[in-house]
Amino acid sequence: MIIRKKGPLKGSMTVPGDKSISHRAVMLGALSEGTTMVENFLMGDDCLSTISCFKKLGISIDVDMDNKRVVVHGRGLNGLSAPDDILDVGNSGTTIRLMSGILCGQKFTSTLTGDASIRKRPMGRILTPLKQMGADIESLNNDSFAPLCINGSQAFLSAIRSNNYSHTLKGIHYISPVASAQVKSCVLLAGLFADGKTSVTEPAVSRNHTELMLADFGASVVTEGTTTSVFPQPKLTGRKLCVPGDISSAAFFIAAALIVPNSELMIKNVGINPTRDGIIRVCRMMGADIRLENERKSGSEPVADIYVRSSSLKGVEIAGDIIPALIDEIPVIAVLSCFAEGKTVIKNAEELKVKESNRLEVIAKNLTNMGADIIPTDDGMIINGGKPLHGAVIDSRMDHRIAMAFAIAGLAADGETEILNPECVSISYPEFFDTLLMKL
Ligand code: S3P
Repeated sequence: MIIRKKGPLKGSMTVPGDKSISHRAVMLGALSEGTTMVENFLMGDDCLSTISCFKKLGISIDVDMDNKRVVVHGRGLNGLSAPDDILDVGNSGTTIRLMSGILCGQKFTSTLTGDASIRKRPMGRILTPLKQMGADIESLNNDSFAPLCINGSQAFLSAIRSNNYSHTLKGIHYISPVASAQVKSCVLLAGLFADGKTSVTEPAVSRNHTELMLADFGASVVTEGTTTSVFPQPKLTGRKLCVPGDISSAAFFIAAALIVPNSELMIKNVGINPTRDGIIRVCRMMGADIRLENERKSGSEPVADIYVRSSSLKGVEIAGDIIPALIDEIPVIAVLSCFAEGKTVIKNAEELKVKESNRLEVIAKNLTNMGADIIPTDDGMIINGGKPLHGAVIDSRMDHRIAMAFAIAGLAADGETEILNPECVSISYPEFFDTLLMKL
């Protein structure tokens, strides 16, 4: 994909549905009684992987790709059936980690695996709490990597032996060493099948879509500070929901509008959940002309239209509790900071090393190739902004957010930028290049 310098981005647009919320809608829909109708579902490869896994677990799911609608015919909390094949999560960390929590509560055995990137991502972070809950889950690799084999039948047999017939797992209070919504959600979903309350405390609050949606479907969920608890065996009831636009996808167009001179964009119907809105907060800190209009709710999720205009930006420090609220936006924030006057320092972002690629390394390498002044650090980077970027060949390492962030850099760089393996954007934003190059 070749990207060249572009004139102003103007007009009004929408972005596809939120990836995290789309996954959870299928998962909770499957575990509910009755039908769950999901509008504005993200038809990206990751969410389609979740659908295909639940189909293998006996759930009937109708997918209307054109209208972005999914109907899940739920079978209740204990209605999943044994798969007759391996569950393939593709590239999706959310699918493998959240489904592991659900599958540990089942009476059957299952195996989860995914692509080469998934098989390098750390699973010890979910194996530890799930084992504490009494789950029989093993990595088929030496170092806690996928494939994961979950022997639900063993856990169920030992529950029967200990005269605890109805539940297979123990409720625990897990103090997580990482602020990760995937870890938190995995443990909370396992907690639905436990014998008592299950709580997770995290070092900083991560995205809370699982908690909000569980409550909407009828579960009892309590959040106090950085601790969230669920109570077991809720009766979950299917419902209708409309997925807000993904702020992580909107972030690319927010950045494009800010750095391409004379741009003015309205991005409609975007989720602005406070556990996800770090990008808006950072843009404001940088001096961006950005505002939220028409703030409203879609179910329990806050939504707004985002107005953004090209602005002169200044460097900022990004660290601490804000990091989980912008964890997926750091590649594009790094690009933005190249166009800001002065120094931007990003700290406490070591989690980026274990995303779809080692994003700290890949950002530094590609921005250096484009002529940026960037110093990689152990847990982030320092960027001295204001140095003009020039086109380069960008190795996306098949990481969707790297491909999109560097396409945005290419819009404001001199010369041509070539993005390798651009098709990886289909993970979270299949229409990204069409929208960027044709519609705006
Ligand atoms: C996600 C949580 C985040 C995020 C990922 C989606 C989720 O990962 O990076 O893209 O849907 O729960 P961590 O929770 O592991 O940080």
